[in-house]
Amino acid sequence: MNANEIIRKKRDGGELTRPELQYVIDGYVKGTIPDYQTAAFLMATYFRGMTDAETSEFTRLMLHSGDVVDLSHIAGIKVDKHSTGGVGDKISLPLAPIVAACGVPVPMISGRGLGHTGGTLDKLESIPGFKTSLSIDEYKEVIAEIGVVMIGQTQEIAPADKKMYSLRDVTSTVECIPLIAGSIMSKKLAEGIDALVLDVKTGRGAFMQSYERAEVLATALVRIGNSFGKETIAFITRMDEPLGYAVGNWLEVVESVDCLRGKHIPDIMELTYVLGGAMVMLGGKAADLREGIERCKEVVASGAAYEKFRALVKRQGGDVAFLDHPETYPRSKHEVEITARRAGFIGSVDSLELGFAGIMIGAGRTKVDDVIDPKAGILLRKKAGDSVVLGETVATVYADNDAALVPAAERVARAFSYADTAPEFGPLVISRVDGDGVQPFHL
Ligand code: URA
Repeated sequence: MNANEIIRKKRDGGELTRPELQYVIDGYVKGTIPDYQTAAFLMATYFRGMTDAETSEFTRLMLHSGDVVDLSHIAGIKVDKHSTGGVGDKISLPLAPIVAACGVPVPMISGRGLGHTGGTLDKLESIPGFKTSLSIDEYKEVIAEIGVVMIGQTQEIAPADKKMYSLRDVTSTVECIPLIAGSIMSKKLAEGIDALVLDVKTGRGAFMQSYERAEVLATALVRIGNSFGKETIAFITRMDEPLGYAVGNWLEVVESVDCLRGKHIPDIMELTYVLGGAMVMLGGKAADLREGIERCKEVVASGAAYEKFRALVKRQGGDVAFLDHPETYPRSKHEVEITARRAGFIGSVDSLELGFAGIMIGAGRTKVDDVIDPKAGILLRKKAGDSVVLGETVATVYADNDAALVPAAERVARAFSYADTAPEFGPLVISRVDGDGVQPFHL
């Protein structure tokens, strides 16, 4: 067997066998197959896809490229959530402590920003001192003590995905259903969960821009999760404009803390409660989704969820004083106001443009080793459907980088479209996918 032949077979639309997939994955992890051949394999897969059988094998091999953590000594049904990625998608930050405060253990292994989308790890690391690189032993200790843990992929957890994820990010091979399915499910199946909730995004700022492709991805993810004996539910949700008002790592932490302290930001809280309610239900602490949502609302109202987040941040080395007093955090050198070009209504706020503007000012990466500026970001002052008068501020851009400031601000301005009448929107949570298939979502 050699890599060249396997790449050619995939390029020409062939179905790879288990030994062929294993040859590529093992070779890449060990370094005997170089980046350039793996990149060619990824691009061939991007164009040719994989059959269901290949996708399952690919996931299994990625999973077993490392260890599978055993959390059976921890009481309770362990449940995690994963999002396919969006702009302003900070949901994991309020969600994990809310669900843990309901008594369901949440072991969470997250990723960094990918393409134009942000990553939970980068957001957590914007909290001074917060350590996301715990060993597996520490990971087990934190979940046992606090009931929630949030770390990055270690060398032991799906190392094939750890390496391939970065390569896909810089070779434009992210938006590919079997590669996404293998990447997400190998990490999630390795972390010691019993059940999983997935947020599959669709729309302008999502990797799956069309609803149809999001449904194919959600169905593949649910099929793989259930076939590994982990009850899996996916929700397909709209990602046309950013979630909430903040885009950028520290700005998103502050917004998440506001939500945990009871501020009602409608889209963030609607999605957090649906995903959280499903996790609490799968974790056996509620009879159905409605009851799960009620439990989540109670722990926010009582302050238990915010206390859980503080305990987690403290345990993982973060300085909780910045959570309690975000005004003490360092400020960006520049703050530029973006103003409305005309009066009327905001028609849409393009999350893809905002994601790219964020990268320009250092809130995300274009290369694996780019350094993030945790303060950099965009704060929306208006969202789609809001009325505006000419010259009113619609967003503020925060940045240190002098050279990127003007082009990024222009990009943010272009992200806003205007309308004479208030636009109509579809639901935020569009459908639910589980072992019984796809259903339109309603409570
Ligand atoms: N999230 C992942 O973990 N992997 C992908 O490929 C895309 C989103």
